[in-house]
Amino acid sequence: MSYRGLLDKYGTLLDLPSHTRPVSLLEGNTPLIPAEALSRHLGGGFELLVKFEGLNPTGSFKDRGMTAAVSEALGRGAKTVICASTGNTAASAAAYAARAGLKSIVLIPEGKVAAGKLAGAIAYGAQVIQIDGSFDDALTLVVEISNKTPICLVNSINPYRIEGQKTGAFEICDTLGSAPDWLCLPVGNAGNITAYWAGFRQYNALKASGLPQVLGVQAAGAAPLVLGHPVEKPETVATAIRIGKPARGEQAIEAAEQSGGRIIAVSDDEIISMQKLLATLEGIWVEPASAAGLAGLAHEIAAGTFQPGGKRIVAICTGHGLKDPDIVIKDLAKPRIVAPNMDALMEVLSA
Ligand code: F0G
Repeated sequence: MSYRGLLDKYGTLLDLPSHTRPVSLLEGNTPLIPAEALSRHLGGGFELLVKFEGLNPTGSFKDRGMTAAVSEALGRGAKTVICASTGNTAASAAAYAARAGLKSIVLIPEGKVAAGKLAGAIAYGAQVIQIDGSFDDALTLVVEISNKTPICLVNSINPYRIEGQKTGAFEICDTLGSAPDWLCLPVGNAGNITAYWAGFRQYNALKASGLPQVLGVQAAGAAPLVLGHPVEKPETVATAIRIGKPARGEQAIEAAEQSGGRIIAVSDDEIISMQKLLATLEGIWVEPASAAGLAGLAHEIAAGTFQPGGKRIVAICTGHGLKDPDIVIKDLAKPRIVAPNMDALMEVLSA
């Protein structure tokens, strides 16, 4: 049978109301790519797999939750959806709203949203509003407006987003036959770590698939869960996770603790070098935030605080590198221009 999207495949395992009317872009079903060269680079002796969520229809994992949230909103009779976003949620909400025939409004922090995300939201027809403030300010506003009006909130505070995002865990268990030993992933507003943990627990209860230990990774300049308090002015090159007050912070800490894992922070340099390593060693280009989980793993291995030997580790790489081309182009030496003839080309190649 051909693939018809996540609600069709896993709908019976998701707690969605009966009024839900499926809206799908055939999201999910993303590959779990072996990363042998990167594993060797990190010392070897363990199995490393990358769940490349950048291959979802709008280029990020957000589509898993969005198919559920927009399907519920449509079935309930909502006319408009709204979200605050560092970019990926905005693009995803806009695409699913377009497909459902709904209006979408997205609030983004001014000047800090990567080009590919903003362009997506506009292309899918969202009303895009920049807030002269942070993601956290934007989230406060959209929560308030959705409490006062029939506009439907599709941030991950919306429980159906979490339901949809649980499917990432289901897919991993279905592909591997069981849960991995460790799961590492970036943490921003903390919806994804919450959803993965819920998904693994649900599958374990149903199918005895086991539970992973969870390594959640924040950027050092935006690490409220590591510091233990909100960060007023979060700063990081990984703009997707530039969040100072995660909506599901407590659940993220619970996921780490219950699983015997932890939440750590890594520097922007560590994030960017992992982004480069993953692209150059494995051919997998992810946006900076998406490399944070692996950067955390590398950090722990280097510090000797994590013994990977014999383990099976899955890294969730949340968004595609094409979302944020500027970050690469910015540091790039301009490609050299040569005359269109063989001599000139040979001269450059032999230099
Ligand atoms: N990776 C990427 C690429 C993201 O866009 C996000 C969150 C995360 C990781 C963190 O996931 O918030 O569930 O902990 N992006 C949100 C957005 C905030 O607006 O697109 P989280």
